[in-house]
Amino acid sequence: MSVVKINVIEVPEGRGGVLEQRFAARAGEVETVDGFESFDLLRPTEGTDRYLVVTRWRDEAAFQAWLSSAAFQRGHASGGPAPSGDGPAAVGSELWGFEVVTSAAARPA
Ligand code: HEM
Repeated sequence: MSVVKINVIEVPEGRGGVLEQRFAARAGEVETVDGFESFDLLRPTEGTDRYLVVTRWRDEAAFQAWLSSAAFQRGHASGGPAPSGDGPAAVGSELWGFEVVTSAAARPA
């Protein structure tokens, strides 16, 4: 079964737009990585002010391989080329890991 890795990101007031633009600019980069299944950048609206990056991988090994890859290091060097505002938009982050136990998705009735 797949694993879910969630990066929990702390973003200073007013920097959310910069973070979102940077993710949008790089979203395509991870799509062809071996074992990558999906990611969602989630903007907080209730109960927290932290953003979540919810990623899903074939297995732990695939995730670990991506973490230690040059592609990951490159994408996470410094916040990267900024469409607006210099420096990192994230001031802190925390990694949560899960194994998928049960899944369902909508299907035509
Ligand atoms: C669970 C997997 C992930 C981990 C552990 C992770 C780790 C981090 C960390 C620690 C930061 C904040 C500091 C920094 O910029 O280096 C960050 C920011 C960022 N990550 Fe990731 N990340 C993950 C998934 C992704 C994915 C799938 C993408 C998109 C391809 C992505 C793109 C970015 C971007 C654009 C930023 C914003 C940098 C900034 O403006 O501060 N990350 N990530």
